[in-house]
Amino acid sequence: MINAASKTTLIREVGIAHPTIAIPKHVAVIMDGNGRWAKRRSLPRFVGHQEGAKTLKEIIRCCKDWGIKILTVYAFSTENWNRPQGEIEFLMRLFKQLLVSELEEMQQEGVRIRFIGELNGLPDSLQAIANTAMLATQNNQAVILNVAINYGGRNEIVRACRQLAYDVKLGKIQPEEIEANLFEQYLDTCELSDPDLLIRTSGEMRLSNFLLWQLAYTEIYVTDTLWPDFKRVEFERAILAYQQRDRRFGKV
Ligand code: FPP
Repeated sequence: MINAASKTTLIREVGIAHPTIAIPKHVAVIMDGNGRWAKRRSLPRFVGHQEGAKTLKEIIRCCKDWGIKILTVYAFSTENWNRPQGEIEFLMRLFKQLLVSELEEMQQEGVRIRFIGELNGLPDSLQAIANTAMLATQNNQAVILNVAINYGGRNEIVRACRQLAYDVKLGKIQPEEIEANLFEQYLDTCELSDPDLLIRTSGEMRLSNFLLWQLAYTEIYVTDTLWPDFKRVEFERAILAYQQRDRRFGKV
């Protein structure tokens, strides 16, 4: 077993992410900057989203190659409904198209798709496609692609509290039994471990209502690179940064 000091030395000497040391099990990503990417090229915003979808495909492949078991991506927040109607409609169409066109490859690559967020607030046609993709891939083992869609961290916590309150009212749970371990069973992420690494592209230093409960001890990596430009090399840079962190979980 390699100790922490030699681990750090080894990583620094090699200067690239090491394939076996401290690989995060769960990586979460705020895929920000699609609009700015397009604007810089005088292109409409939707082109940025299309390019962002290509990047996502590449990052799923990276996760598989690196043995990262869970990738959670922020695709559409509860606040994104405030965007122009045309952009919202484009994104809903894009999600549907991708969930259909990429399904076969997901199957071949062993990717299991699941969702977090209030799916029943989405258009019926998207809900149907999302459910089909979830069911079709439920036994896949290589990587879990966890898509946050119509997702907000506060909304998730409030929904969990509501469900918990119903269970208390029904007498299934006593108030004294409520503690963190029990509470997280009510979150959308109930069967997943917390993210080890959060990546945010395009430079903003905020959580934007993403995984507010689950990110309590997550390492945060922010890069100025815009999401459509965040390719394999950039991803490996984030893994390298993670490998150099000293995770203490509140201990000394
Ligand atoms: C944020 O960039 C990006 C989004 C709100 C959409 C991201 C969606 C994809 C990449 C497609 C993913 C598809 C599936 C099926 C998961 P922004 O528009 O906020 O960029 P800006 O801050 O530069 O304006």
